[in-house]
Amino acid sequence: MKVLLDGKKASEAILDKIRLESEKLGITPGLCVIMVGNDPASSVYVKNKEKACEKVGFYHKTYRLMEDTTQDQVLSVIQEVKEDCKLHGLIVQLPLPDHINEELIINSIPVEKDVDCFHPFNVGCLLTKKKGDAPLAVAPCTPAGVMELLEMNGVDVAGKRAVIVGRSNIVGKPLALMLLNRDATVTICHSRTKDLPSVVREADIVVAAVGSPKLVTADMVKEGAVVVDVGVNRLEDGKLCGDVDFDAVKDKAYAITPVPGGVGPMTIAMLLKNTLSMAKRQRVCNKTS
Ligand code: GUN
Repeated sequence: MKVLLDGKKASEAILDKIRLESEKLGITPGLCVIMVGNDPASSVYVKNKEKACEKVGFYHKTYRLMEDTTQDQVLSVIQEVKEDCKLHGLIVQLPLPDHINEELIINSIPVEKDVDCFHPFNVGCLLTKKKGDAPLAVAPCTPAGVMELLEMNGVDVAGKRAVIVGRSNIVGKPLALMLLNRDATVTICHSRTKDLPSVVREADIVVAAVGSPKLVTADMVKEGAVVVDVGVNRLEDGKLCGDVDFDAVKDKAYAITPVPGGVGPMTIAMLLKNTLSMAKRQRVCNKTS
C-alpha cells in the first residue's frame, strides 16, 4: 500500500473549513435528526452526528421517538421540521420499524431540507445531471464522502474501471451515478452476480458496500487497485470490521481505506457540508421573500 485513505484526517480538515464558512454566514445552520426506535447502530451514528454539529457550531435537534410511534406521528414531526426556519437540514435515520412505510416517509421529507439526498426528486437530479453535484447542491452523504476522499488523495476516476459491490439505494446505486458523472466505467455487482471474484479483479477502483465481513479477499484484487471499504460489521468479539480483508488486501492495493476511520467520518463531514449548502440557499430565499 502506498496511500492510506485516512477519512478521519480528511474529515477533520473538511469540518474546519465548514466551521470557518458557517461563522461568516450570518445565520447558524441547523440540522434535525429523527430517529424511531432503539437500533443500537443508529444510536451510535446519531450521537456522532450530534457531536460533529457541536464541533462546527451548528444548531441541532434530535427527535428520539419510541419504537411504537405511528407513521402519522412521524409525518407530523416532519411537517413541524419543515416549518421550523432554524432547521435547514432534516434526516430520518434508517432503518425505520417495520410498521412504518420507509418510502412514504422519504417521499415526505421536504426537498429543500433533504440533506441525505434520499427524496426521489433529489435522486432524479443526481441521475440527470451529467457532471458534478445535483442542482440542489447536495449529494448522498456516503457516496459523496467516497468521492471526496478519492479526490483529496489525488485519485482521478476518469477513464478508470470502477466495480461497486452492493446495489443499495443509500450507497451502491448513487455512487455508481457519481462515478459515471466523473467519467469512470462503472459495474455494479450484487448477490446474483456470476463469478464475483473475476469481475472485481478487473477493477482499478473497488468499492465494497454490502455489509459482509471480509468479503473482498486479496485474490480478488488487482495489483495496484484503489480499494474503498464502506462496510461496517461488528464481529462476535465486539470489534469493527469492513467488507474488505484489510490485512491481506493492503499489500496488493495502491490505496485503501481503513475501517474504522475511512469512509465513516467522511459521511458525517458530507452531511454537515450539505447542511451548510441548504442553509446558504434558505438564507437567500428568506432574504428575497
Ligand atoms: N442509515 C444508514 N446510513 C444512513 C444514512 O446515510 N442516512 C440515514 N438517514 N440513515 C442511514
